[in-house]
Amino acid sequence: MLPAAVRKEYTIAVLPGDGIGPEVTAVALRVLRAVAKAHNFGLVLIEYAVGGEALDRYDEPLPKETLRACKAADAVLLGAIGGPRWDHETGARRCETALLGLRKSLDVYANLRPVQVFEGLADRSPLGMDRVSGADILLVRELTGGIYFGTPRGQKAVGGLRTGTNTMTYREDEVARIARTAFTWARRRRSRVTSVDKANVLEVSQLWRTVVAEVHAAEFPELALDHLYVDNAAMQLILRPRAFDVILTGNLFGDILSDLAATLPGSLGLLPSASVGASVGLFEPVHGSAPDLAGQGRANPMGAVLSAAMMLESLGEGVAAQRIRNGVAACLQEGVATADLGGTASTSTVGEAIIAFTAGLTTAKSQ
Ligand code: NAD
Ligand code: IPM
Ligand code: MN
Repeated sequence: MLPAAVRKEYTIAVLPGDGIGPEVTAVALRVLRAVAKAHNFGLVLIEYAVGGEALDRYDEPLPKETLRACKAADAVLLGAIGGPRWDHETGARRCETALLGLRKSLDVYANLRPVQVFEGLADRSPLGMDRVSGADILLVRELTGGIYFGTPRGQKAVGGLRTGTNTMTYREDEVARIARTAFTWARRRRSRVTSVDKANVLEVSQLWRTVVAEVHAAEFPELALDHLYVDNAAMQLILRPRAFDVILTGNLFGDILSDLAATLPGSLGLLPSASVGASVGLFEPVHGSAPDLAGQGRANPMGAVLSAAMMLESLGEGVAAQRIRNGVAACLQEGVATADLGGTASTSTVGEAIIAFTAGLTTAKSQ
């Protein structure tokens, strides 16, 4: 007789953070608990402090206990960090350094930011339905290098004048590994990679372009590759969003282009992300702590919920992940949405609707 199937159980370090972070994370956790029950796997969800909340309680934005728990977990789910209350902080006390430290410590060098214009949504885009409907882009952002981490950095007096310095630097192995990530995803999608850089001006981008082309020629010659300068890429993204499949770019350009790409579906609140590379993945919405919305129950929780779906996918629970995505799509089709998408629903009402649609849907239906 075969042994009874062992029920899988995943330990998730949950970092709600600041501002709307705890509000959208609470919805993501409710959705996760519902699908875990329906799909018969276990989730151990333990919350830890990060960002401004951690600074207030433990006097550091990334407490050792939080980092230790993240490294030991199967995955990390994060809400958002930062806000005006802590904006006067500098150096290692800045909230944002917690996120950078976490990404670096987990070695999650590949940040995947999918941007899709869901059906029933296209009329929400400020760019107009004709232009955006059907757009389906995967932005692959290098996350643990570039100007975010390069040295020298800092502020000092030079010739009696205050001078600020940051350094954009990439080694060939850092470029090659993120290029492989982008090409591998393109193979599963529409076989096109657009690499975005500033090679007309920056030496770091000239190396980037050379290495991307070498990896392409040696390992992925069957895929289409083109290169765009970042300024032109920003314009093309808005003018011809359907022309893009996978966008491969560095840390800073990826940060900027992903918020820009949020204008395609019409709200930053919709965009999820997965940061992967080593053993433990970090999953967080693309948006920040939205101080203008915090505490009002008006934040869109869909980016957080879809980040939870990306987490389940990476843990091997693809059917449950698809069920969540279908639930969000159904919600949008029925017009249950927060104000950023023109709706009137609260954060928790959207959460309840996602759970209801998720429960009512059959599994593995592709949208
Ligand atoms: P933000 O992403 O917080 O907000 C930008 C705009 O988008 C605001 O108008 C906001 O209301 C809107 N918005 C964001 N999320 C939304 C949601 N879920 N639903 C509806 N509308 C939403 O960016 P910001 O205002 O530039 O930054 C605020 C703080 O967040 C800063 O301290 C910044 O460093 C931090 N931040 C953190 C992260 C993160 O934790 N991953 C990401 C970006 C910014
Ligand atoms: C993001 C954020 C972060 C970044 C900040 C908060 C450090 O803007 O995840 O897009 O710049 O990477
Ligand atoms: Mn950003």
